[in-house]
Amino acid sequence: MLNTKNLSPAHLSALTSLMLAIPVAVYYMVLQGSWGIALVVLLAVFLFGYVLILYVFEAFINRKIKLIYKFIYQTKASKREEMYYKYILPQKTIDEVRLDVEKWAEQRKAQIEVLESNEAYRKQFLQNLSHEFKTPIFAIQGYVDTLLNGAIDDPNVNKKFLQNAAKNVERMVNLVNDLDAITKLESGEQPLYKQNFVVQDLVKEVFETLSIKTNSRNIKCSIKKGCEQPVTVFADKEKILQVLVNLVENATKYGRNDGNITASVYKTDENHVLIEIGDDGIGIAEEHLGRIFERFYRTDSGRSRNIGGSGLGLSICKHIIEAHGQTIHVRSKPDVGTTIGFTLASRKD
Ligand SMILES: Nc1ncnc2c1ncn2[C@@H]1O[C@H](COP(=O)(O)OP(=O)(O)OP(=O)(O)O)[C@@H](O)[C@H]1O
Ligand SMILES: [Mg+2]
Repeated sequence: MLNTKNLSPAHLSALTSLMLAIPVAVYYMVLQGSWGIALVVLLAVFLFGYVLILYVFEAFINRKIKLIYKFIYQTKASKREEMYYKYILPQKTIDEVRLDVEKWAEQRKAQIEVLESNEAYRKQFLQNLSHEFKTPIFAIQGYVDTLLNGAIDDPNVNKKFLQNAAKNVERMVNLVNDLDAITKLESGEQPLYKQNFVVQDLVKEVFETLSIKTNSRNIKCSIKKGCEQPVTVFADKEKILQVLVNLVENATKYGRNDGNITASVYKTDENHVLIEIGDDGIGIAEEHLGRIFERFYRTDSGRSRNIGGSGLGLSICKHIIEAHGQTIHVRSKPDVGTTIGFTLASRKD
């Protein structure tokens, strides 16, 4: 059986003109009884029909298809594409063209889906952003208005109100700094300056820096037993410091009074080191675990604790670790504690 699906324009023209030529030739043979004339007519009609049909195909159909091709594969054709349109496309069957167009449509659909999800993400982002800014701005407005309306002359409250306003200004500054950091990390604007350093030394530095906060809640910070042996990694020290500060701050904020923060360092294989910061605090319910690295995401208990925070810390950590080509993960159980771990590359000589 003739497969009519995959015929090229040349084949189609030949077939059609043959179908036209045969009855005409048969007619001449029967009527005139001459094989010779019938053969000549067969050839003539076939050739004429072939050229005519092919021309019509070329002029009215292929040219239009080429135009559509140019449109869907974006405006101006390069030299190679010109060759493609000129020499390869005419040999393509209509079915192959259909497949090409279907593929193109699928690509476009995927692109549109990405754009739509970006759009939803952008809306959500703006909503979160204005929400995060509203709280400190309204607080500052409240304190300033109260001061202006007379409280400035009341020595019992004036300094306190100013201090509260300053605290909220600081919160806004932190928010802007965090946003700035995220934007830079996302756009890849911030290059990594990698160097060899000992993880435990950096961890101790972070424990030291945050000792005022941890001491105020009587939280004990330590390096896990058996993990004291110095391990050298190759990473951007400043940025890893930022990650550790975020993790230890979280472990303090969401830890319990008189609790413990433990850092552990393991060489997982030749090329990787795993660093974990664990606490014995409030923990995170399972339904939140997959989302805590998202921008602005805070669990209900994170919010209700009313400890200033915008939910950007872990998102920054994730960006930094991923920029290093490494991974970050969380294990947690409500009322038992949380451990956040990330990998880094081992020392490079
Ligand atoms: N160690 C932890 N124990 C319990 N919950 C945590 C812990 N670390 C993070 N979380 C939860 O994950 C959320 C996101 O953390 P993230 O550090 O991104 O934001 P944040 O600490 O609320 O604010 P920011 O870090 O921007 O000041 C927190 O709000 C909290 O609900
Ligand atoms: Mg945080």
